[in-house]
Amino acid sequence: MTRESIGVSAGLQQYIVDHGTTPPDDLLNELVTETRSVLPDRAGMQIGPDQAALTTFLVRLIGAKNAVEVGTFTGMSSLSIARGLPDDGKLICFDISEEFTSIARRYWERDGQTHKIELRIGDARNGLSELPQDAALDFAFIDADKPGYLEYWEQLVPRMRPGGLIAVDNVLWSGRVTDESDTSSGTEAIRAFNDHAAADKRVEVVIVPIGDGLTLARRV
Ligand SMILES: C[S@@+](CC[C@H](N)C(=O)[O-])C[C@H]1O[C@@H](n2cnc3c(N)ncnc32)[C@H](O)[C@@H]1O
Repeated sequence: MTRESIGVSAGLQQYIVDHGTTPPDDLLNELVTETRSVLPDRAGMQIGPDQAALTTFLVRLIGAKNAVEVGTFTGMSSLSIARGLPDDGKLICFDISEEFTSIARRYWERDGQTHKIELRIGDARNGLSELPQDAALDFAFIDADKPGYLEYWEQLVPRMRPGGLIAVDNVLWSGRVTDESDTSSGTEAIRAFNDHAAADKRVEVVIVPIGDGLTLARRV
């Protein structure tokens, strides 16, 4: 038995953004504007301001100190994670692009977050495997290449502490997950990931229909 969620129109989405962060955030707005201007074809990869607010909220709510991000781009999600961490918290960010993350670095600096963040450039498949098995991570965010999701998940789940939270972006893939005529590799990768996560007994999973769909998985 299912019950439909409220449909979110563009106007309602703007209302959520206007009322969903306290206070309105000039720095994040500037980061959105710069990303759209410098990387117009890629700017859609950035998480939205509502999801950024949710991320900071969740990181703070679980009292996270150690976090990992897979897929940093120009820094929106990493800023939201870092803001939720205490001053002695640590965030390790993985990305393959010096170009994209050079923008992120500037915004981390301006927001006073640089001391919490370590950026590791290179394929996250290698980077995650180098993290200690007993890392006891509090929070992780997966938002890189979709074919890599299953592997990132398998590297991260055992490294989370009990009660730790993994957030995974784009799991509704613009609604294409339920379009049976779509058998593209990206869509199939997201479907395979969603099936895998839903059956994984090491976590409790909830999909939140924010942005492009966000899986929240709590390590049991
Ligand atoms: C969707 S964007 C991330 C958006 C970012 N979370 C934000 O909110 O602004 C995906 C990022 O993953 C990076 N990426 C792609 N393949 C990767 C890999 N194998 N390892 C690490 N990063 C990768 C890309 O360079 C890109 O910056």
